[in-house]
Amino acid sequence: MTKPSYTSLSCLVITLLQLIIPSQEAQITPPPLPILPLPNYAQLKWQQRELIMFLHFGVNTFTDSEWGTGDENPSIFNPTNLDANQWVDTAVQAGVSLVILTAKHHDGFCLWPSKYTDHSVIRSRWKNGQGDVVLEFVNAAKARGVDVGLYLSPWDRHDKSYGLNKEYNEHYLAQLQELLNKYGDVKEIWFDGAKGSNAPNMTYYFDDWFAMVNELQSAINIFSDAGPGVRWVGNEHGFAGNTSWSTINRTLLSIGGSNADYLNSGDPKGTDWLPPECDVSIRPGWFWHKSQEPKSLSELLEIYYNSIGRNCVLLLNVPPNTQGLITNSDVQRLREFRSAIDTIFSTNLAKECSIKASSQRGGKNGGFGPENVLDDDHLWTYWAPKDDKEDNWIEFKTKSNKSLRFNVVRIQEAIGLGQRVKSHEIYVDGKRIANGTTIGYKKLHRLEKGVVSNAKSVKIKIIGSKGTHLISSIGLHFDPFW
Ligand SMILES: *[C@@H]1O[C@H](CO)[C@@H](O)[C@H](O)[C@H]1NC(C)=O
Ligand SMILES: *[C@@H]1O[C@H](CO)[C@@H](O)[C@H](O)[C@H]1NC(C)=O
Ligand SMILES: *[C@@H]1O[C@H](CO)[C@@H](O)[C@H](O)[C@H]1NC(C)=O
Ligand SMILES: *[C@@H]1O[C@H](CO)[C@@H](O)[C@H](O)[C@H]1NC(C)=O
Ligand SMILES: *[C@@H]1O[C@H](CO)[C@@H](O)[C@H](O)[C@H]1NC(C)=O
Repeated sequence: MTKPSYTSLSCLVITLLQLIIPSQEAQITPPPLPILPLPNYAQLKWQQRELIMFLHFGVNTFTDSEWGTGDENPSIFNPTNLDANQWVDTAVQAGVSLVILTAKHHDGFCLWPSKYTDHSVIRSRWKNGQGDVVLEFVNAAKARGVDVGLYLSPWDRHDKSYGLNKEYNEHYLAQLQELLNKYGDVKEIWFDGAKGSNAPNMTYYFDDWFAMVNELQSAINIFSDAGPGVRWVGNEHGFAGNTSWSTINRTLLSIGGSNADYLNSGDPKGTDWLPPECDVSIRPGWFWHKSQEPKSLSELLEIYYNSIGRNCVLLLNVPPNTQGLITNSDVQRLREFRSAIDTIFSTNLAKECSIKASSQRGGKNGGFGPENVLDDDHLWTYWAPKDDKEDNWIEFKTKSNKSLRFNVVRIQEAIGLGQRVKSHEIYVDGKRIANGTTIGYKKLHRLEKGVVSNAKSVKIKIIGSKGTHLISSIGLHFDPFW
């Protein structure tokens, strides 16, 4: 018996492979070019969080006020049962992956033992002045794999240097360094432009502050009216514009002085990726007050549809009480809120349908078919039509004689390659039932005309787009809470 030679063996292998692999060329089509501007790494991570939590806590909690004067006796800060683990457990149950604490509010009282002030936990009765709320907060979050953010109010009604530009900016930067050096990774830092009327000429040296932030932390998002990481949505009731672009021109913004409508809707021609964050409190006030109650479930869902459902991240404030705990009624409401969201979105009726699109990039095996809108990847797999086509559509049809009953349509864009869609329409059995402008990371249509039942087909048409549109996910859902 003669051994086959190497050459004849490899010939055999090639022949066998040719038999197995279809003769058609299996050439993979590359993704289309991006449309600038794009989110950066930290912005993309932030967007996927959807819901984040704010905790307003400090001397105001004990004086029953919203804006402290800075003249409080620091000894009043005395939570009887402070447990940051309970805060973070509450956040985790609500599906939150980032919690932001008011390390210092306008009153200047610091929740950590700052070396640069006499208005802090050091002079409180809590733990005989030995405590550090920021540290307990950070440790509780770390233990649960939750990320942290901090708010350090620029306005300080206590510090004597406030109003003196050089002195106060040095003071502020020193505190910023304490917070960003000592407590590990910080993923978001919150700035606002609030100023005291006693110091009309006070200038905050934002450029210096931001440079310091970026020096001390990587992958951090800087929030303010004007970014540079995340922008304010222009109001405090948690509603983004019906049209909501993540893009805007930063040159037209200023911290404390931006046009609220511009912030609310963004700018289709914007040169900067600066997505909106909707901040709102679960209660009427930002701080806890005995006399106040949490918002109802339906109010929270209304906020959800108008923030997360409009291409925003929702920053929901849940303030600890004088015991240093999140009140039971708030914990319960958050539980109902999360359970409602899960109930609505856990079933996607589109998955029971057959699916078709007007065209698809790269042909049948190009990797950009309409079936991509039904997988769990909401960023990097998507339906893309052929480049040169206009007025594209995607259609879901029920199988056999089933029918659909839904009142929410969810559409998501693959924003990793830019926000593109300018206008779209939704049809049920050939009849237009809703339309909209932008989509972005997530657009939720709560159908104004109510529940659609007995539907056999749903078609979504993309009417206008900056270049080829890329749709990463679509859902047809039923919301029983509405
Ligand atoms: C603010 O600046 C204006 C103009 O320079 C000056 O007239 C005014 O006295 C200043 N106000 C304070 C409170 O320093
Ligand atoms: C934003 O900048 C772009 C590019 O310069 C420009 O075309 C657009 O008009 C600007 N938007 C506004 C509202 O000025
Ligand atoms: C359609 O529905 C009828 C009655 O519900 C049922 O008898 C029939 O088998 C269904 N047809 C198909 C194709 O599923
Ligand atoms: C949002 O915009 C769409 C399309 O223009 C419109 O049909 C709808 O009524 C608007 N919704 C609200 C709440 O303004
Ligand atoms: C949505 O439909 C209304 C009513 O036909 C129309 O006025 C509006 O311009 C449409 N909006 C979009 C974004 O297509």
